[in-house]
Amino acid sequence: MARDERSQEHAREALRRCEVLAAISATDGAIERVYLSPEHARANATVAAWIEAAGMASWQDAAGNARGSYPAATEGAPVLLLGSHLDTVPNAGRYDGILGVMIALAVVERLHERGERLPFAIEVLGFADEEGVRFGRTLLGSCAVAGTWEDAWWGLEDGDGTTLREAFVAFGLDPERLRDAELDPATIVGYLEAHIEQGPLLLDADQPLGMVSGIMGAKRFDLTMTGEAGHAGGVPMRHRRDALLGAAEIVIAVEQVALEAGIVGTVGRLQAFPGAANVIPGIAEFSLDLRAATDVQRDQAWDAIKACAVEAAAARRLAFSEELRHEAPATSSDRRLSEAVEAGIRAVTGKDAPELLSKAGHDAMAVAALTRYAMLFIRCGNGGVSHHPDESVTEDDVALAIDAFEAAVLWLAEERG
Ligand code: HGY
Ligand code: MN
Ligand code: MN
Repeated sequence: MARDERSQEHAREALRRCEVLAAISATDGAIERVYLSPEHARANATVAAWIEAAGMASWQDAAGNARGSYPAATEGAPVLLLGSHLDTVPNAGRYDGILGVMIALAVVERLHERGERLPFAIEVLGFADEEGVRFGRTLLGSCAVAGTWEDAWWGLEDGDGTTLREAFVAFGLDPERLRDAELDPATIVGYLEAHIEQGPLLLDADQPLGMVSGIMGAKRFDLTMTGEAGHAGGVPMRHRRDALLGAAEIVIAVEQVALEAGIVGTVGRLQAFPGAANVIPGIAEFSLDLRAATDVQRDQAWDAIKACAVEAAAARRLAFSEELRHEAPATSSDRRLSEAVEAGIRAVTGKDAPELLSKAGHDAMAVAALTRYAMLFIRCGNGGVSHHPDESVTEDDVALAIDAFEAAVLWLAEERG
């Protein structure tokens, strides 16, 4: 079969598999799959079958990641890691994370079909919790593999008050065995991740693929404004300690600070309590997601937002509190490993690879503590929308991505002779 038809066929299969996984959801009519849920278990079982079909040994590791290994040409060779994540945000698209795992599988399938072994083994990883939706802390699966999981996280609670430890045990995992998921840095060649861009830059540049220069540093907070609940009719406006108005001042400040600093800031969740139309909100709880090209920029923006919050609280006789839920430092991709991705893109497009700073977080941020990383971005359609059901890619771009990702792996094999 002609190579390009073979690529199209692999692309169709990768997209078909994304549809299969999209149907494994906690909610009818939308895609939602969170860490240590029944949907997580079903997705892992589904992916395990595909991992085995690609000629790999398949297992679920001690942190709930789906993993597969493809042997090297010789015993004791180092390992190249390929992967992305299998969990989703609520009301997600089909491709965020998922497509990257399917592209990694397609590359190994091709090696298996050709009976080809490389100077390194390949491990495919379907990380179990990149989004951090359930427990508020992201990258749990990849932190377990990188050996950076913190014992303090076991007490993190989900929206139902279930702790991470309880959910872990209920899922059938043993917290005492978590370290079994770790990899030894000395045995790793590096980590390559293919991922949709989750933005409009490749679309605007009319480019199907891009390489990632680095990933923005991020911090996520749970913020609370506390005032005094009261009767929506009886309390005069000037007597109120309305927590929601204090929060609203911060939400606007986030936008102003982010625009001035050239970073991104988002309040994705905001709840007023007690939440009745005729009661002045006594409490407002909201999230803050801050990202910047450097950790200094990110932290300066937080200082400016916090100053606004303290001022608004004082002016409105409210109490302001903050809880840092997640922090990931800005990271740069590895230049040498990126040369492989660049060579792969050039091999299939005939053009130099556009280079982008990723504003979205990825498991590569966590894996960076273990080994060097490089990323391949795939163009998003529909204006680049992501974290949304309208997330889209084309079969042709996925075929190019599989070819480029395979070419990057073969370039590394060539480099190692
Ligand atoms: O939030 C992010 O950037 C990623 O999708 N977890
Ligand atoms: Mn995401
Ligand atoms: Mn993702």
